Amino acid sequence: MSAANAQWPHLFRPGSVDAPVLLMLHGTGGDEQQISGLAGALDPRAAVLAPRGRAVENGMNRWFRRLSEGVFDTDDVARRADDLAGFLVWAREHYELGDRPMIAVGFSNGANIALATALLHPEVVARVIAFSGMHPLERAAASAGPDAIGARVAASDLAASALVLLNGESDPMAPLPSVQRLITVLEQRGARVEQVLRPGGHGIAETDVAAAVRWLA
Ligand code: MLT
Repeated sequence: MSAANAQWPHLFRPGSVDAPVLLMLHGTGGDEQQISGLAGALDPRAAVLAPRGRAVENGMNRWFRRLSEGVFDTDDVARRADDLAGFLVWAREHYELGDRPMIAVGFSNGANIALATALLHPEVVARVIAFSGMHPLERAAASAGPDAIGARVAASDLAASALVLLNGESDPMAPLPSVQRLITVLEQRGARVEQVLRPGGHGIAETDVAAAVRWLA
């Protein structure tokens, strides 16, 4: 596994040893270089760890497969979240990060993989800043019967998790009802959740960045 993780395309900047690690997760069609630019606005002293999503759709980097816009292949979401958690365990050791806190920062598809990983691997991803994210495992959680992914979500202990979800009120790509259902699940599992809503749609507004900086502090 560690050889596979070493080959995972990613960017790493060590930052100051007493600063946290920002795990930067790009959106559809982005990459590690592009999303890492946001890290400086959040915490210029932080380490930056930015892997590249390895599910490719029409030449665009993504984190997992989707059946259509907003309809996710939840088996693939869970598998990719497992892979990302494995990569993060490897990276913490490889880059000698010790117990530096790690905060996942994702935009859009990157927010969705951050949220899925936080739901399935809270011991690896306990803090999340999600810009324009939604419930990434809703179809699995809603399906009847002993669905393995739904059961994993239902059994997840998020008592040590803290997340901030920043969304546009009229975002067709991250619909508010899905965000609200995600918040319900996160809180039921014990997470501390802050919601930041602004007028408008998909994206990262200046007010979102300012709210994320406040939340980090
Ligand atoms: C997703 O696929 O994760 C969301 O629909 C957002 C996006 O298009 O990246």
